[in-house]
Amino acid sequence: MTAQDIPEFDPFIELDWNSLFGLADFGSTLRTLGPGMFLPLSGQLDRYEAELRRPSPALSAFFARVKEKISDADYAHVQKRHLNREAIAYLVASMKEWAAWGTNSPAEKYLNFTAFAVSKFQHAVRLGLHKSPPLDILDLGAGPGHFALVCDYFGHRCLGLDVPLEPTVPGLDRHLYHDLCDLFGVATIAQAIEAQKPLDLPRRFDRVTCWMGKFHRAHRVSESGDAEFADWDVNDWAYLLRDLKTNALKDEFEIHLQLAPIKDAGVMDFLSTRSTGGNAERFLFVYDETSAI
Ligand SMILES: C[S@@+](CC[C@H](N)C(=O)[O-])C[C@H]1O[C@@H](n2cnc3c(N)ncnc32)[C@H](O)[C@@H]1O
Repeated sequence: MTAQDIPEFDPFIELDWNSLFGLADFGSTLRTLGPGMFLPLSGQLDRYEAELRRPSPALSAFFARVKEKISDADYAHVQKRHLNREAIAYLVASMKEWAAWGTNSPAEKYLNFTAFAVSKFQHAVRLGLHKSPPLDILDLGAGPGHFALVCDYFGHRCLGLDVPLEPTVPGLDRHLYHDLCDLFGVATIAQAIEAQKPLDLPRRFDRVTCWMGKFHRAHRVSESGDAEFADWDVNDWAYLLRDLKTNALKDEFEIHLQLAPIKDAGVMDFLSTRSTGGNAERFLFVYDETSAI
């Protein structure tokens, strides 16, 4: 069966995503996340809670607030825009193309709300945001805005920064991240983080966060004019940390960066030796006003 064979699309049925579209061939994250993307938001939340080994009152309270704030109908509106028959056909075709590049994790996975919001809830609690007075937070590479939604729940003011995003699905006027950030009531700023370039921000922040960050995997033009991919070097990281400290943060601050894997041993050494916490094995680095950055 191919995507073209699927009858009129109804997001509120349990689809066997893999057998329907053959996406298992791509070893995609959609193998595990796919089915949840199609459920009503409240159904995703209920299922997650039902499968918890131990009750989590704090998480349940967050889920209850999410249900109050975002109706299934409004969530379904976004699902139908990004998971309709044409969109899925386009996604399957794109994934076949991306397979050659080793890419298998499309943005649509973020419609599986619990798969991404729960980890952001846990990050927020680990940072103590559940018991902190209101803070100004800047989330780098915010994507669909789950972390900012959690920050808002805990009473903080979070600005999500991401690259300017064009719609990926033919016929749609907006990128999925924009639809989700709007639905979540998340404030965003469109700006690419670039090596050795200062950020232009509207105010100063108490915290800078970044989850699953990959802005350091830069696309550059080489001296000979060819396009090339180059991970950031030590100077690029030093520049970003200094720019954040000097231009983006208040006197007392914390920076929490959780990054896509870094291969360069010199960069790892730089980021680790200057950090005041985190876990380098998991590419998690923490800095504050006492860090030598
Ligand atoms: C793996 S996603 C993570 C999204 C979100 N932080 C989360 O954890 O769900 C990486 C995000 O970084 C953004 N991004 C990539 N390069 C960037 C850059 N140079 N500047 C700002 N954002 C960037 C992408 O658009 C995407 O939203």
